[in-house]
Amino acid sequence: MNLPELRIGDLVAKVPIVQGGMAVKVSTAPLVAAVADEGGIGLIAGSGISVDELRNEIKRAQELTEGIIGVNIMVAASEFKDLVKASINEGIDLIVAGAGFSRDLFTLGKENNVPVVPIVSSVRLAKISEKLGASAIVVEGKEAGGHLGTDKPMKSLIKKIVDKVKIPVIAAGGIIDGEDIAEVLRMGADGVQMGSRFVATDECEVVQEFKDLYINSTKEDSILIESPVGLPGQALSNEFTDKLDADEVDTGNSCDYLCLKKCSRYFCIVKSLVKAKEGDMANGLVFAGEEAHRVNEILPVKEVIKNLVTEAKNYLNREEAKDE
Ligand SMILES: Cc1cc2nc3c(=O)[nH]c(=O)nc-3n(C[C@H](O)[C@H](O)[C@H](O)COP(=O)(O)O)c2cc1C
Repeated sequence: MNLPELRIGDLVAKVPIVQGGMAVKVSTAPLVAAVADEGGIGLIAGSGISVDELRNEIKRAQELTEGIIGVNIMVAASEFKDLVKASINEGIDLIVAGAGFSRDLFTLGKENNVPVVPIVSSVRLAKISEKLGASAIVVEGKEAGGHLGTDKPMKSLIKKIVDKVKIPVIAAGGIIDGEDIAEVLRMGADGVQMGSRFVATDECEVVQEFKDLYINSTKEDSILIESPVGLPGQALSNEFTDKLDADEVDTGNSCDYLCLKKCSRYFCIVKSLVKAKEGDMANGLVFAGEEAHRVNEILPVKEVIKNLVTEAKNYLNREEAKDE
């Protein structure tokens, strides 16, 4: 049995795997293009970067692949609309939007014939998204890396939502191997979005120390921090999160420009994430999903996707044989 294709509007991904957008240039062109080349969908994160940087990243990815590439943009970003418009002008294939909900985004998508895919964590927002013209939804549970919009497990949300909408449902949060993929497909999801697994790949442009923290982490290292954005953020415990706990954050991490519409400015989330991805683990924040401890190897994207597809197919075949 083959895995089903994932259809979003007129786009057809041969492999139903979306590589989730990861802020401050964790998901950049080489990673995005590698996923797209394997038949999945790669997302460039438009968070924590300028409009020009996003434009350049899109161009760079388009030069590397003929596959499907999208952007992930935070509705909470001050420059939200400009980031969306720039992405559309650069010919992006789809727009995924999280950290808030924007009705204007659906209008922009419709006017420009670009599929819009909101990230939701409730039946109510799933239904509203469908009504407003979403081409698909990402249903993200509490296991996901980064900012969280829910404390509910992904599978409980998927169970509730799949029968309530007709548009494709993409499950996100805690999906690490092919069996995880197969399980949610059997629950009625049409595809998956994965973040953590793709950090530990050759193509991900973060420093080795960042990837090492992932592959050496244990279950206990997964923690929630209080982000200045006003949401919990799922991260790996390190020297910086110890300082946060002790209320001893370096003033060098404070904010000097307002990149978010709403922010407590207790510390700068963008600066902290950038520091980690550049190797300053003492002052940097490492976002990671709750199941990141199950990622044990840094591999090329091609191999990751090959393994995921094989594991998922094997699992589905076994379950199908049991059902007969
Ligand atoms: C390092 C990192 C950064 C992330 N940044 C963003 C972001 O900027 N916007 C967003 O909507 N989701 C973000 N996410 C969430 C991912 O896109 C994805 O939905 C999530 O990681 C799925 O859960 P998993 O990590 O368990 O696979 C981030 C996740 C990680 C691990």
